[in-house]
Amino acid sequence: MQIKEITTNKADYMDILLIGDEDEKMINKYIEQSTVFALYEKDVLTSVCAVIPINNETIEIKNLATYPQYRNRGYASALINFVSNKYKTNYKYLILGTGENNNTLKFYKKRGFQETHRLQNFFIDNYGHPIFEDGKQLVDMIYLKKIFH
Ligand SMILES: CC(C)(COP(=O)(O)OP(=O)(O)OC[C@H]1O[C@@H](n2cnc3c(N)ncnc32)[C@H](O)[C@@H]1OP(=O)(O)O)[C@@H](O)C(=O)NCCC(=O)NCCS
Repeated sequence: MQIKEITTNKADYMDILLIGDEDEKMINKYIEQSTVFALYEKDVLTSVCAVIPINNETIEIKNLATYPQYRNRGYASALINFVSNKYKTNYKYLILGTGENNNTLKFYKKRGFQETHRLQNFFIDNYGHPIFEDGKQLVDMIYLKKIFH
């Protein structure tokens, strides 16, 4: 397994970024300012993670995705660990916002994140079309935080 930091042509990763965030316009708002990490297994791209510093103490995960055929092999967890190790010395918190999906919330809570607050109607107000996950329409954005120290 190899994790590469992508500094040029980040748009080449658009198809996998669209798994983590299905609206290309939203991705384009953060991708140039983001640091993108791509995970390869035997030179095959499996997963991606985009992060952005919010202030002196906080890093935000803007996108995390694994192609469906490579899921449940620990790749997204490896990216969270990699990002945590990289930023824990200089930052206090790793945060992210996600839809109200029990699987996703469970995934992050198991990996040390706790819920902090929600942005009401975020998915209604910011996306041009309704977004459904596991048959349920996403409405609020739930914020989670992992405290490094
Ligand atoms: C969530 C996601 C990134 C996990 O990737 P992964 O490489 O399979 O992750 P890992 O192998 O490290 O961990 C697998 C875990 O994901 C859980 N999982 C599987 N499908 C999932 C899904 N659609 N949504 C959330 N979690 C999922 C598994 O139950 C497993 O949890 P456990 O280890 O606690 O039992 C991947 O399922 C994905 O890309 N989902 C679609 C995009 C998304 O929801 N991104 C996160 C919100 S920004």
